[in-house]
Amino acid sequence: MKKILVTGGLGYIGSHTVVELQNAGFQPVIIDNLSNSYIGVLEGITKITKKSPVFENLDLRNKADVSDFFRRNQDIEGIIHFAASKAVGESVEKPLLYYENNLNTLIYLLQECQAYGIDNFIFSSSCTVYGEPDSLPITEEAPVKEATSPYGNTKQISEEILRDTCSVSSLKTIALRYFNPVGAHESAHIGELPMGVPQNLVPFITQTAAGIREQLSVFGDDYPTEDGSCIRDYIHVVDLAKAHVVALERLLSEKNESNFEVFNLGTGRGSSVLEVVNSFEETTGEQLNYKIVDRRPGDVIAVYADTKKANEVLGWKAKRTMEEALASAWKWEQRVRSES
Ligand code: NAD
Ligand code: WQD
Repeated sequence: MKKILVTGGLGYIGSHTVVELQNAGFQPVIIDNLSNSYIGVLEGITKITKKSPVFENLDLRNKADVSDFFRRNQDIEGIIHFAASKAVGESVEKPLLYYENNLNTLIYLLQECQAYGIDNFIFSSSCTVYGEPDSLPITEEAPVKEATSPYGNTKQISEEILRDTCSVSSLKTIALRYFNPVGAHESAHIGELPMGVPQNLVPFITQTAAGIREQLSVFGDDYPTEDGSCIRDYIHVVDLAKAHVVALERLLSEKNESNFEVFNLGTGRGSSVLEVVNSFEETTGEQLNYKIVDRRPGDVIAVYADTKKANEVLGWKAKRTMEEALASAWKWEQRVRSES
C-alpha cells in the first residue's frame, strides 16, 4: 500500500479525502495540529472505512518536528497538502499568522521532499486567485488577479513557490483550484465543523435552520445578476475529495504533461445565494429565517468554473447535485447537534 502524507487531514476537505484514499487502497498518514479540527474526526473516518488512519498531532510550523517526521517516514510516496489557515477576514487582521502558517509550512514540506526524493505533491489552491474574472466560466488560463486578502495572496505565492521548485527539481505538483466546497459525507460521520460563527454560506444556513443562529444575512441583492445575489460554483466535498485521488494517481503513474499542472475543481454551474437558500428549503422542508442586508466588502459578483480541463485531462467530473450536497450538510448538522 502506498503511503501518502495528508497534511490537515482532520480538516473538512482533508478528512473526506482520507476516506477516498483509504477506499482506493492507499495508506494515508495524517498530520494535523487540531488548530481548526477535532480529534473525533478520526473516529468518524474509521466508522466509514473500518480502517483507522495513522495520525500525528504535529504543527507544521515547527521545522524540527517536520524533519523528524520525515526521518521516521522515509517511505512516503506522495503528499496532499491541505493544512493552512483559511479565514479570509481573519487573514486581513492577522497577516503574519497567515503568511507564516500557509507559506512556512509549504516551504518546510518541500525541503523534506528534496531531502527524501518525494516527487508527488498535490496542493490545495483556490478560485480566489482569479479575483473578479473578466469572463465566465473561468478557465485555468484566466489571469491571476491581484489578491484582495493575505489569505488569497498566500495561495498565489504558494503556487509560485511550487512552480519555481518544480522547474529546478524532480518535484511534480498538481495545484487544485477549488471553487466552493459544500456538503458532507453521506454517512454523516464526517462533515464541516466550523469553530465559532461560520463565515461560509452553507454552514451558516444549516446552523440557522438548527436554531443556533437566529437569522441568515444574505449579503446583497443588488448585484448585476438575475436575482441580484452573488453567484458561486458550489461543489460537493465528496466529489472534490475524489479528485485528489485521481490527481495523485496521475502523478504516481507519471501521466502528467508538465511538472506543474493546475486544474479547476468545480461543477461548472453557477448558483446564486438566493437559489441556494431556496434549494435548501425545498430539499429539507425547513423554513429559513433570512434577511437581505448590505453587500459584504470584498465579495466578487460571480465565479464559476470551466471544468473542461479537469473533465478531459484529469478524467474527473463532479457528479453530485446541489440538492444532495445540501441534504448531506443538513443531515450532518443534525447529527452533530444531537451528539453535543
Ligand atoms: P480546514 O481548516 O477544515 O482544514 C485544515 C486543517 O489543517 C485543519 O484540520 C487544521 O487543524 C490543520 N492545520 C492548519 N495549520 C496547521 C499546521 N500548522 N500544522 C498542522 N495542521 C494544521 O480547511 P478546509 O476547508 O479543509 O481546507 C483545506 C485546504 O483547502 C486549505 O488549504 C484551504 O485554504 C483550501 N481551500 C479551502 C476552501 C474552502 O472553502 N473550504 C476553498 C478553497 C481552498
Ligand atoms: C458564498 C456566497 C456571500 C455567508 C470564500 C473565500 C474563498 C474560498 C471559499 C478558500 C457569497 C454569501 C455568505 C453569509 C451570505 N475559500 N453569503 N451570507 O466568499 O465565495 O469564498 O470561501 O479559498 O477564498 O473567500 O464563500 O461561503 O463565504 O460565500 O450571503 O452568511 O454567500 O456573500 O456570495 P466565498 P462564502
